Amino acid sequence: MLFYVFLAIIIIIIIFIFSSPRLSPVPYFPSNAKDIDIIIESLSLSNGQTVIDLGAGDGLVIFEAAEMAERKGLDTEFVGVEINPVLFAIMSIRRLINRNRDNIHIVFGDMFTMNFDKILDPKKSTLFYLYISPWHMEKTIQNVKRQIQRFTVVSYMYEVKPLGKSQKQVEGLNRIFIYKSF
Ligand SMILES: C[S@@+](CC[C@H](N)C(=O)[O-])C[C@H]1O[C@@H](n2cnc3c(N)ncnc32)[C@H](O)[C@@H]1O
Repeated sequence: MLFYVFLAIIIIIIIFIFSSPRLSPVPYFPSNAKDIDIIIESLSLSNGQTVIDLGAGDGLVIFEAAEMAERKGLDTEFVGVEINPVLFAIMSIRRLINRNRDNIHIVFGDMFTMNFDKILDPKKSTLFYLYISPWHMEKTIQNVKRQIQRFTVVSYMYEVKPLGKSQKQVEGLNRIFIYKSF
């Protein structure tokens, strides 16, 4: 009996977290797993690069990309930023069992306001992976531009209007838009 009460409480907490506009302002939808190969190709993984997924969900993209980087012998670093505590916990556990865990960092933070100072190495090139609603693009990009001058954005499904016209588009089940700010 006690077990079922405990289970019900956990389920209610999880439902609350996923439906709270404060803890999950952009709803959780993972990138389509069928597009994962072209997403990783679009990241153009390289040495001396940091790939940061703003709103990383369960980490589908960063963990797949980190495994690819490890197979290719690249020193690419990966950062997953997440505001939802359940998804943050899932990624933290996934990181522990990933072979490339030393190059993966999971950060609990708000992509609209976070400070990138502590998590990004200015000597490395920075690529942001985004899969967020169009109406959240402006404040996300503003926060990035305020702190970083040169960066690349790979956006799944949605154009990043504040960055103008994309340099490249890749067709998958959903379109991928690539922008270079230099
Ligand atoms: C559409 S999902 C994308 C998940 C992942 N990037 C992927 O492609 O599979 C958006 C994610 O952003 C997270 N999120 C929403 N608002 C956020 C914020 N202000 N800061 C950090 N993460 C946020 C949500 O919890 C959700 O996991």
